[in-house]
Amino acid sequence: MYGVLKFHRDFIALTGFILYSLEQIVINTPGAVSNIFVGAAWETTWQHLPEDGVVIVTDNNVYDLYRGKFPGFPVLKIIPGEESKSLKVVEKLSDKLLKTGVGRSGFILAIGGGVVCDIAGFLASVFMRGIRCGYISTSLLSQVDASTGGKNGVNLGKIKNVIGNFRQPEFVICDTSMLKTLPEKEYLSGLAELIKTGLIGDPSIIASLENKYQEVISRNNEFLSDLVARAVRFKASIVSQDEKESGARRILNFGHTFGHAIELVESAKHGFAVASGMKLATLFSQEKGYISGAESSRIISLLEKYNLLGEYHLTVDKMRDLVIHDKKRSGTDIHFVFLESIGNGIVRKIPVDEVIEFYRHNNTDK
Ligand SMILES: NC(=O)c1ccc[n+]([C@@H]2O[C@H](COP(=O)([O-])OP(=O)(O)OC[C@H]3O[C@@H](n4cnc5c(N)ncnc54)[C@H](O)[C@@H]3O)[C@@H](O)[C@H]2O)c1
Repeated sequence: MYGVLKFHRDFIALTGFILYSLEQIVINTPGAVSNIFVGAAWETTWQHLPEDGVVIVTDNNVYDLYRGKFPGFPVLKIIPGEESKSLKVVEKLSDKLLKTGVGRSGFILAIGGGVVCDIAGFLASVFMRGIRCGYISTSLLSQVDASTGGKNGVNLGKIKNVIGNFRQPEFVICDTSMLKTLPEKEYLSGLAELIKTGLIGDPSIIASLENKYQEVISRNNEFLSDLVARAVRFKASIVSQDEKESGARRILNFGHTFGHAIELVESAKHGFAVASGMKLATLFSQEKGYISGAESSRIISLLEKYNLLGEYHLTVDKMRDLVIHDKKRSGTDIHFVFLESIGNGIVRKIPVDEVIEFYRHNNTDK
């Protein structure tokens, strides 16, 4: 079950919450309730925190930009980037956490993008068998995707997210004004995940991205807040039906079967790799007769409009190797996400061989 509350300006004034519209999206899963606040000014949200026992986990970039407004709790910093998503970093953070004197009643506040939230969420779920946590989500990718849904984890070498669990943060704050400082490449990477959400579940997101180019590029606060809220609403509705990805949640993997393989081999940014994966999955959907040629072209034009389609070089054999290790595989089949139309994703279990065969005749790197 999930719910959406729109806050009245009087409430906003009373609580010290902000100037533009605030939306609270509630995820109810069997074990937890998670509140996602979109449009909240991040520095007015300390009211969600306990008075003591809080430790902040962030990365060096976010720390350098925003430390002036951090509340006065101990701060643990990680090196920015995917390489930090390792058990070694979790071990080091656990050690530092112990040294702060935090016990089982402690609280981890993650302030950062998807990497920080994935690591901090995992750390909170295992430290002393689990302590409380909440996120201030600072990148577009984490606001529209990574910080909603309770998936935590770290990588094992180059294999992504194989060590992890499902555990909902108590709250997530998405303040789109923080996106102003995001490097261009990171912003566009997040845009790809926003496009993914629109394609599988909310065609109004696609229409906004097609028609409001200036607002997107200028990172208009109010506009982005509305888009992030729409993306979170969709993801919350899916996660509330299927927290642990045994059914409906699989749809969120649109573009990820090919995308993860491209990400691994090319060391591409997640969103760019997913964008190339979405192009392939769209063409595959068209080939299977699910989506029309006109809609397929519209999708590829949108990905091109925001320069999301880079070059990649991945042989058929390498693709097969990586798809075989995909978490969505079951035996010789895989749950592949297709599009029936813009805003309507569907999951079909098909043989891995069929996926590879499609790749073989759509790929130039034989
Ligand atoms: N848990 C999930 O459900 C889920 C879903 C999708 C992706 N992910 C994970 O998310 C990660 C990618 O997330 P990401 O793209 O946010 O990466 P990230 O956390 O590495 O952030 C990208 C870069 O932007 C910087 N940054 C973050 N916020 C900033 C801000 N406001 N201003 C300036 N710089 C800022 C970071 O320091 C970093 O250098 C991947 O590890 C991916 O596996 C998780």
